[in-house]
Amino acid sequence: MRVAVIGQGYVGLPLALAAAAAGHTVLAVESDPNRLDSLARCHSYIVDVSDEDLREAAASGRFIPVTDLRGQPAADVYLIAVPTPITEADEPDFRFLDGALATVAGTAAPGALIVVESTVYPGAIRHHVAPLFEQLSGLQAGTDVRFAHSPERIDPGRDAQYTEIPKLVGGLDEQATAEARAFYETVFKHVVPVSSAEIAEFAKLFENTFRYLNIAFANELGRAAREMDVSFHEVVQAAASKPYGFMPFSHGPGVGGHCLPNNIHYLNHALRSVGRPSTLLSTAAQVNGAAPSYVVERLERSLERSGMTVEGATVLILGLAYKPGVADARNSPTYDISDALVARGARVRVVDPHVPEGAGAVSFTRAELTEMECADADAVLVVTDHEDFDYAMVFQNAPLILDCRGRFDSAKVEQL
Ligand SMILES: NC(=O)c1ccc[n+]([C@@H]2O[C@H](COP(=O)([O-])OP(=O)(O)OC[C@H]3O[C@@H](n4cnc5c(N)ncnc54)[C@H](O)[C@@H]3O)[C@@H](O)[C@H]2O)c1
Repeated sequence: MRVAVIGQGYVGLPLALAAAAAGHTVLAVESDPNRLDSLARCHSYIVDVSDEDLREAAASGRFIPVTDLRGQPAADVYLIAVPTPITEADEPDFRFLDGALATVAGTAAPGALIVVESTVYPGAIRHHVAPLFEQLSGLQAGTDVRFAHSPERIDPGRDAQYTEIPKLVGGLDEQATAEARAFYETVFKHVVPVSSAEIAEFAKLFENTFRYLNIAFANELGRAAREMDVSFHEVVQAAASKPYGFMPFSHGPGVGGHCLPNNIHYLNHALRSVGRPSTLLSTAAQVNGAAPSYVVERLERSLERSGMTVEGATVLILGLAYKPGVADARNSPTYDISDALVARGARVRVVDPHVPEGAGAVSFTRAELTEMECADADAVLVVTDHEDFDYAMVFQNAPLILDCRGRFDSAKVEQL
């Protein structure tokens, strides 16, 4: 089939490559000129995709990076994998989704299947995506073209076989679900059809907010455990020895990434629209949102015990990525922690070999992880525990360590 994948990011690029590997001819649509240029040079910017993967795909002749679909013949299947962020007012922001729909509307012809992979709220495809597309294209959803949702479950940095992750598909009608199922079965090993797009949309948000709520619970308990002088990491390990009915979640410096912090607002938007906003979610957002300031408070206490203050201190933060092993720094707690420390007169340096230097203004300066850097700092803060940090060297050289990830097993290191 002829497949167009709109957006070549963490979700769209692996998807486009998997579709090409399955034998489809894939137009990999990417509006960012830097990313498009990297694709043309077979230079990957995504942790789970290697340059070799890109070279193989290019050599097959079935992976074709393009900036948009103008001048291209119609595709059989359109897969939309663009960002779905939130606005300043914490409402769903469909700027990119609407832009992608305009791109698709420019070439789609009757018979097309259009699948949204981006995370959206329950009802978004039926009440926003399909009507907007009809307006833009003059084609009718359900008769001319079919719409479905297949939420992405990729976990960047996790060493899992992408095409083995079970793939949910739910269409606006039975025919759409059947067509989406048939397409996805050519690419993925386990396709899980559900009875509507709304089920797929809701399931994705349930999965992610389940995680968010449990992290909030761990954050609350972790802070209380600290006051009791009990290691919450050990509590979690102990509880995890129960072979059923429990999943381990850790407390930490805050919840980052493009997904979890936004998804709660997508879900609450849908819940509010039916008059049933979730107080649990709002409380969890408060608890997780306070995590960076709790880190600063703890660091302040640790520095005071060593006869220092935050004002005038040099703090070396390990980690800018929102989780280990990735280059993605979107919504990373490091930004808030650094801003708060700098506002109190500290000097902050951040080490992260995975995250390239960005263009925007930040409150810290970037550094490399060296003995001197650790020894010169008044405190080292472990925010993201990348595997490739030399923790033994940090332990030997840093005068004070506050470990937000339970990486160190020594009484000399302060645990969050
Ligand atoms: N990153 C994850 O781990 C993950 C996991 C599951 C679901 N999701 C969801 O998947 C969606 C995409 O997330 P992502 O992390 O891949 O985002 P991303 O920012 O890495 O990639 C999106 C890409 O789309 C491009 N783009 C935007 N508008 C475009 C347009 N009109 N035409 C062509 N390209 C366009 C952007 O330049 C960008 O490269 C979001 O809804 C996200 O919530 C992400």
